[in-house]
Amino acid sequence: MAHKQWFWQSKNAGEPVISEEGIPAHIAIIMDGNGRWAKKRALPRIAGHNEGMKTVREITRAANRLGVKVLTLYAFSTENWKRPKLEVDFLMKLPEEFLSTFLPELIEENVRVEMIGDMEQLPAHTRRAVQNAIDRTAENNGLILNFALNYGSRIELVQAVRSILKDVQAGTLSEQDITDEAVSRYLMTSHLPEPDLLIRTSGEHRLSNFMLWQLAYTEFFFTDVLWPDFSEKHLLEAVASYQKRSRRFGGLS
Ligand code: FPP
Repeated sequence: MAHKQWFWQSKNAGEPVISEEGIPAHIAIIMDGNGRWAKKRALPRIAGHNEGMKTVREITRAANRLGVKVLTLYAFSTENWKRPKLEVDFLMKLPEEFLSTFLPELIEENVRVEMIGDMEQLPAHTRRAVQNAIDRTAENNGLILNFALNYGSRIELVQAVRSILKDVQAGTLSEQDITDEAVSRYLMTSHLPEPDLLIRTSGEHRLSNFMLWQLAYTEFFFTDVLWPDFSEKHLLEAVASYQKRSRRFGGLS
């Protein structure tokens, strides 16, 4: 099996040894540090984002090989609109650029592209590119590559509350039906398992309005590595660390 060979290879390359059992089903990543990567090289910030896009490729390939089921990448938050227009415009071009070269490989590799976030507010060209990728990979049943684009967890929760209220008013939901599971069903991630592992790069230790509900029992892995420098080896380190954790979900081991 392709997987087995890859595990063997990693071991021989002196990389962290991970076991084939206990691969996190859902890995979510806050891809941070593009700007600092560029600054260190006296390059404009957008050069860092461009390099970060290359990392997206490498990590998607690696996650797919590992047998991860869902890879959620925080690419643009609802707060990122506050950045200079030049940078926002550039970030809005990246999905197109990424997909224009990588989509055939994603299709070939049975990856399904999905998105969470408010698509309506995206520029038409970004929306078209993402929607095209979603449509063309809709039948794939391998890794779900889930872009969080114009995503904010608080607005997601606000929208869930509004939808719940509407359904209560319409009589299709009763107060007793509003359970933990029911709330999850009103989120953009309703069809996905909750993340098992959250990775944040660049040494920052915060959630930045990312999946506040969904991360309740997720294992966190923080690394100082800047996103453009993050590689398959670092992903394996994160998974190796995850595999040493004892997940108790509030109970006892
Ligand atoms: C945070 O780093 C990064 C972002 C806000 C953008 C992330 C986008 C990518 C990695 C590319 C996305 C690619 C696709 C295909 C959608 P920062 O700019 O805040 O870095 P800094 O904290 O060092 O300034």
